[in-house]
Amino acid sequence: MTIIDGKKISTDLKEELKSKVQEFKEKINKVPGLTVIIVGEDPASQVYVRNKAKSCKETGMNSTVIELPAETSQVELLETIERINQDPDVHGILVQQPLPSHIEEYAVTMAIDPKKDVDGFHPENVGQMVLGNLDKCYISCTPYGILELLKRYEIETRGKHCVVVGRSNIVGKPMANLMLQKLKETNCTVTICHSATEDMPSLTRQADILIAAIGRANFITKEMVKPGAVVIDVGINRVEDASKKSGYRLAGDVDYEHVAELSSAITPVPGGVGPMTIAMLLKNTLQSFMRANN
Ligand code: GUN
Repeated sequence: MTIIDGKKISTDLKEELKSKVQEFKEKINKVPGLTVIIVGEDPASQVYVRNKAKSCKETGMNSTVIELPAETSQVELLETIERINQDPDVHGILVQQPLPSHIEEYAVTMAIDPKKDVDGFHPENVGQMVLGNLDKCYISCTPYGILELLKRYEIETRGKHCVVVGRSNIVGKPMANLMLQKLKETNCTVTICHSATEDMPSLTRQADILIAAIGRANFITKEMVKPGAVVIDVGINRVEDASKKSGYRLAGDVDYEHVAELSSAITPVPGGVGPMTIAMLLKNTLQSFMRANN
């Protein structure tokens, strides 16, 4: 059984990005810039945003975090985005989700210049991705990170049955779409399961590659997994744990303890998919910078 080490791969990738950023700095005296906007005080989001900014700095990119109070109106947020759209030193814009309920996520997505949409959420980027024009879009960071893991671990995917559990716009839908495409690291037969799926175990048990993006701790049990499957766990769930100083521990969507022993390869939580998401965000930001400066 192989433990897919997303932490290591993300570190390698960040090193590669760092040297490319350095090259640009020497050649044209410019570096990529990422602006992250967070509205309100969701503690998990604050941790993610801090980690994004930290990784950005580590690779030599500029990073700005704009923290807006929870009461910020939608109009104010859209004005802030528009100002950053116009800033030539910013190549990537990310508005951390979830947003307070009075702000419409769709309006925010539409306000971001698709050329700076390093989350890959704008319909223009989603559309190009679905069409297979991967050189003309930004791919949503978590699915993109999973492709990178499959590639670097040389996991055989061609003709295999990939089952994606979850249909979110951020992970499930783009993931399933990419796994369907004719890329070296994809080219699968794809099934998508969700909350209304009947007899889900009968489907997940057919998966050669099982991707869990449900958002419920330990949802995928060993009875749902075929022996020898490759298991990719996207979940980052906080589970109460009195023995921890913070009062919680992180658990994936997969019951790792029991599933790991029957899988051929599996991503741990933490240290699997999570670190890759940040690395791909930086990769998208560098890509945007290169497109703006060529
Ligand atoms: N919240 C959780 N994951 C993400 C992500 O990939 N992008 C944004 N903008 N918000 C998130």
